[in-house]
Amino acid sequence: MYCIKKITNDLVWVGANDRRLAMFEGVYSVPKGVSYNSYLLLDEKTVLFDTVDKAVQHRFLENVAAVLGSRNLDYFVIQHMEPDHTSAIMEIMRIYPKVKIVCNEKTLSMIKQFFDFHLDERVHIVKENDALATGKHKLHFFMAPMVHWPEVMVVYDSIDKVLFSADAFGCFGALNGAIFADEVDFLKDYMDEARRYYSNIVGKYGVQVKNLLEKLSAHSIKMICPLHGFVWRKDLDAILSKYKLWSAYEPEECGVMLAYASIYGSTENATEILASKLRDNGIKTQMFDVSVTDASEIISAAFRWSHLVLASPTYNMGVFVSMEALISDLAAHNIQNRTIGLIDNGSWASASGAKMRESFSKCKNINILNETLSIKSSLKEEQLKEIDLMAEVIKNTMSK
Ligand code: FEO
Repeated sequence: MYCIKKITNDLVWVGANDRRLAMFEGVYSVPKGVSYNSYLLLDEKTVLFDTVDKAVQHRFLENVAAVLGSRNLDYFVIQHMEPDHTSAIMEIMRIYPKVKIVCNEKTLSMIKQFFDFHLDERVHIVKENDALATGKHKLHFFMAPMVHWPEVMVVYDSIDKVLFSADAFGCFGALNGAIFADEVDFLKDYMDEARRYYSNIVGKYGVQVKNLLEKLSAHSIKMICPLHGFVWRKDLDAILSKYKLWSAYEPEECGVMLAYASIYGSTENATEILASKLRDNGIKTQMFDVSVTDASEIISAAFRWSHLVLASPTYNMGVFVSMEALISDLAAHNIQNRTIGLIDNGSWASASGAKMRESFSKCKNINILNETLSIKSSLKEEQLKEIDLMAEVIKNTMSK
């Protein structure tokens, strides 16, 4: 049985939710599930925007059929070729043989990479600023390369002022009956998931996101329809303002994220004492054990806070495995504009501090505190003053 949501008089959500998926893209945990959004515009012409992941394809096809009723599908806009949005391409082309795909050249070549069917005469190619009238509505196409793949484009309906934003403004989490961000307590219940989605999926491409935001700023937008998560129809600035910060790698809040690897608890203990001292200084903290926390959560927290403290034992004369992976992930996501403190632990030879410093030295605009807190097996009473000093130095580097 179909499950659809009305978005406007002419626009219907025909996507589906998946609450069984353990790891989105095989990398990111999705404990609250995920939605795959697809939209159907009912104008003089009918227009489908994207499809869904194969796990929920059956429900999606039911939804499309129910909304179309006896009408034909005229246009099928493909904004993004990642398979979580395109697995039903073949089925759509088979069920609606007269439909025309609307996409750009890059998308067309990717369709041919992923699928094996003849489609050239069934494609309407669009370029930057092209428009397509569908009756009452007019769709405008804007290229958004690397938000999140090179072929991505977004679509703006200049009549209803609706932005179909592809992966931009998406969020992890199934929709649970709601469709609009203002139907839920988004700031409390979903902003962390929106940040985790942004930082991990498109965090690396801040420049490209910024370019897209600038391009879109020329248009009045009343509604944002992303490919994952909720539709925004009120207080759009709540999410737009976050995107401005995230794409510029500016922290949202002044505070310290402390992430530690600890084999027998001593490195954890030193990190915990530092966190306690920071709190004593009125500084907000968030702590993670990298060995048991999904890296996507720590990447997300790194995009939130102004200061990061990383603590690792020396392991095989390097950084502990889970911390090494995290630091490599942070660098891959282009983390920058942060102040970083380091704690290392070595029972007979200390190497992790120097190696962590070397890894972060390749990131842009990173201020690594001069002194690494170095412990040998366990923190000693006389080192408490070093922790006090690190807390004080961190406090002194906080500008807000
Ligand atoms: Fe949900 Fe980049 O795809």
